[in-house]
Amino acid sequence: MQGKRILLGITGGIAAYKIAYLIRILKKKGAEVKCIMTPASSDFISPLVVATLSQNPVAIEFWDKKTGVWTNHVELALWADVFLIAPATANSIAKMANGLCDNLLLATYLSLKTKTIICPAMDLDMYQHPSFKRNIQTLIHDGVLVVPATSGELASGLEGEGRMEEPEMIAQFTENYFLSDLTKSNQTVLITAGPTYEAIDPVRFIGNHSSGKMGFALAESCLNRGMYVVLITGPVQLQMAHPNLTLIHVNSADEMLKAVSENWSECHFGIFAAAVADYRPKEIAIQKIKKKEENLTLELVKNPDILKWASENRNSAQKVIGFALETNNAEENALLKLTNKKLDMIVLNTLENDGAGFQSDTNKITILDKENGKFEFNLKSKKAVAQDIIETIMNIK
Ligand code: C5P
Repeated sequence: MQGKRILLGITGGIAAYKIAYLIRILKKKGAEVKCIMTPASSDFISPLVVATLSQNPVAIEFWDKKTGVWTNHVELALWADVFLIAPATANSIAKMANGLCDNLLLATYLSLKTKTIICPAMDLDMYQHPSFKRNIQTLIHDGVLVVPATSGELASGLEGEGRMEEPEMIAQFTENYFLSDLTKSNQTVLITAGPTYEAIDPVRFIGNHSSGKMGFALAESCLNRGMYVVLITGPVQLQMAHPNLTLIHVNSADEMLKAVSENWSECHFGIFAAAVADYRPKEIAIQKIKKKEENLTLELVKNPDILKWASENRNSAQKVIGFALETNNAEENALLKLTNKKLDMIVLNTLENDGAGFQSDTNKITILDKENGKFEFNLKSKKAVAQDIIETIMNIK
């Protein structure tokens, strides 16, 4: 972000204390940072800290009460390559959505010629409130980019969605905004990743060791090519933030299918890299199952096959790519899946190869396509494998 001019707006939420780290990261990446704070935000982070770290005076009021000098918000707005507002409170978002202008930060927003990125932060009930949702939709419609809040511990002591994204991710999102602007493509890809968790009772589930690394690497590779990505992931430890990325978190196969069905029609191709549980418990116990008998039998029912659903519910231009993880008769089984699920391509990885499969950072794949093509690749990092896969997909007829 060398030389990029970031105007950082800080509004009055508890998450403002993290902005010191955000300024440091942006500066380390080479950006110039100037800050505007709402009067309320100085209760949460000292303007002295903000000014010292950004190495620039902080603008808070329309005019300096000591010198009587007017703060030129138009000049600030024109200076910026991007206006990044973090944290963005429900109050400021509501005012922005309605064109209110009762502080310097809002006046600057209204004078802006460039993009605004907002990082909402609020309590979980506020984040779900219809009025907040309405306001955020208005801002998206107005062209504002949103770094979605994440789930976790909130200042209220409650747990849930509404926590501001971490400073590292906000910085990455901003950096990617500058990169992605250079390489717009009109392709949208849907990717599934990670395991699914099928609940047994309120505390237990059936899952698997999938880390999501392959799916996330595929998403990154597509984003680097300027594509739009809808990444639907089961529970994983990975994070990603990018202006062209819609990241949807799910737990179970049913939830994953719902997310896929809501997004699939907008996509040009789908890569189904998730390790979806084939079966789920027939009943989910409402209370934690007590340890009693020597044996416990769980009745399982088949999960929906998401890949097959996507293949059966597509238009003629949409391409469908599956994965196969096989322990025996690998190629034969992968070919069967390719035909049965009417796929364009299947990516085969076997557990027979050292360094391939779940959790690992590397993978060794063979790609089979519906035209009887067979492409073998060496053991590589999952990021390099992702590039091979995307390049091969681009050549599908
Ligand atoms: O038939 P099998 O489960 O081995 O096929 C693997 C492929 O199918 C993978 O691409 C996986 O993401 C997808 N799949 C799915 N939904 C399921 C099971 C598998 O999308 N319920």
